[in-house]
Amino acid sequence: MITLILNSKNLTLKIPVDTILLWKEKTMTNKLEKPQQITFDLTDRCQMQCVTCSKWKTVPSDVISKELTTEEWKKAISDLRNWLGEGFWVCFSGGEPFLRQDIFELAEYANSLGVKVASMTNAFGIQNLYEKIIDSPIESLNISLNAINNPLIHDASRGRDGSYEKIIDTIMELIKLRNEKQKSLGINIATIMLPENLEEIIPLVEFVTKNKINGIMFQLFDDKESFHGYYYQKGCMTSTYKMPKDLRIQYKNMSKRAIEIIDRLIEMKRAGHSIYNSYEQLYAMKIFFNNPDDILKDIVCDVGSTNFAIDPYGDVRLCFNMTPVGNIKDEKPENIWINSNSEKCRLMTKSCKMYCRMLNCNFKHNFANFNKGFFTKCINKVKKILTGKK
Ligand SMILES: C[S@@+](CC[C@H](N)C(=O)[O-])C[C@H]1O[C@@H](n2cnc3c(N)ncnc32)[C@H](O)[C@@H]1O
Ligand code: SF4
Ligand code: SF4
Repeated sequence: MITLILNSKNLTLKIPVDTILLWKEKTMTNKLEKPQQITFDLTDRCQMQCVTCSKWKTVPSDVISKELTTEEWKKAISDLRNWLGEGFWVCFSGGEPFLRQDIFELAEYANSLGVKVASMTNAFGIQNLYEKIIDSPIESLNISLNAINNPLIHDASRGRDGSYEKIIDTIMELIKLRNEKQKSLGINIATIMLPENLEEIIPLVEFVTKNKINGIMFQLFDDKESFHGYYYQKGCMTSTYKMPKDLRIQYKNMSKRAIEIIDRLIEMKRAGHSIYNSYEQLYAMKIFFNNPDDILKDIVCDVGSTNFAIDPYGDVRLCFNMTPVGNIKDEKPENIWINSNSEKCRLMTKSCKMYCRMLNCNFKHNFANFNKGFFTKCINKVKKILTGKK
C-alpha cells in the first residue's frame, strides 16, 4: 500500500493512495442525483439548554399550532416515497423529536411504505418509552452523549443537571431489552468534540466497544448560530460569514490535542472500533484544526446535491442556514428539488464562507468533498513518488 504523506503547515497526513482514488471517484461527479440525506426536524422544541445550540429557546406555545400535523408529515413521507422509491432513510431530528407524541405513528407509517427510519435524541424524556422504542420500526437511534468518565462535562454541555444519568440509563436499558427481545435496533452515540471533552473522546470509544453499542460518530462543534430553531431565525448570512473571534480562539487552543486525538481515532478505527466517521472525514478534521480556513479552500460544501431537510413548519432547505427552497405542503418534493430556488441555493453553496461543511450531515456518502485543487496536489505528489522524483 502506497501512503501519501502531505506535510503542510506543521500537519502530517498519511493518506493511503487507494483511499484518495476512491475518494475522488465518489465525490467528483457533477450530475445532480436525488438527495441522500432526508431529515425531518419534527419540532424546534426542546427541554435541554445546550451551550452549543439555540433551538431550545423556542417557546412551545408559539410554535405548536404552526407545526405540521401528523397527516401533513405522513403526506410528506408518501410523496417522498413516490419520488425516491423504497429503502431510503429518513432521520427524525429537531429540536427533540420524541417531544412529538406521533413519532411512533410516523415511524409505523414510513415503515409500511418501505421507508427506513433513524432518529436523533437527547434521551432526556424517553425513560418510559424503552419498550415502545424497541418494538417500533425505528431502526437506528442516535443518542447524543458528550462525556463518559465525567458526568459534569456532559451535563454542562447540555445545560441540564442529571442528563448524563438519564442517558446512561437509557443506553443500558435499551441494550438489555434489545438482547432480551432479540431485536435489532441500532444504538449509536453522537458526540460533539468540544474544548471541554477532548479527554473523554477515547474513553467514549472504549465504552462503545465494551458495551456492544453499534457505533459512535464525532462531529466538530460549530457556531451555535448555525444550530437555530426555524421559527425565529432563518439562518446565518452565509456569503459574508466571519467566524467569531472567541470561537476561533477556542479552536486554536484545542487544536494540538485535538489532532493527537484524531490520530488516535484513526488508529482505533483501523483496529476495528466502530467509529462511523470515514477516514476522509477524520483527515479533514485534522486539516481544520491545523488551520480552519484551509477547509474553505479544500472542501466544497455539498449540501446542495445531498440534503433535503424539512423543518417543523414544512419549509424545505438544502442548506439549514439558507432560506427555504419550497414548502412541502405546497409542492411535490421532486419539483422542489429542481426548482429555481434550489438552483440558486446550489450556486450560493459554492461561494459559502461557513465552516459547517465539516458537519457529518454535510459529507456526501460520508466522504469529504475535497475540491479539484486538493486532488491535483495529491495526485501530482503520487506521480512524483511513482517516478522516483522527489
Ligand atoms: C440539533 S440536535 C437534534 C436532536 C436532539 N435534540 C439531540 O440533541 O440529539 C442534533 C445533534 O446536533 C448536535 N449539536 C448541537 N449543537 C451543535 C453544534 N454547535 N455543533 C455541532 N453539533 C451540534 C447535538 O449534540 C446532536 O447530536
Ligand atoms: S442540541 Fe438537541 S438537545 Fe441540545 S438544545 Fe439543541 S436540539 Fe436540544
Ligand atoms: S457550509 Fe454548507 S451547510 Fe454550511 S452554510 Fe455553507 S452551504 Fe450551508
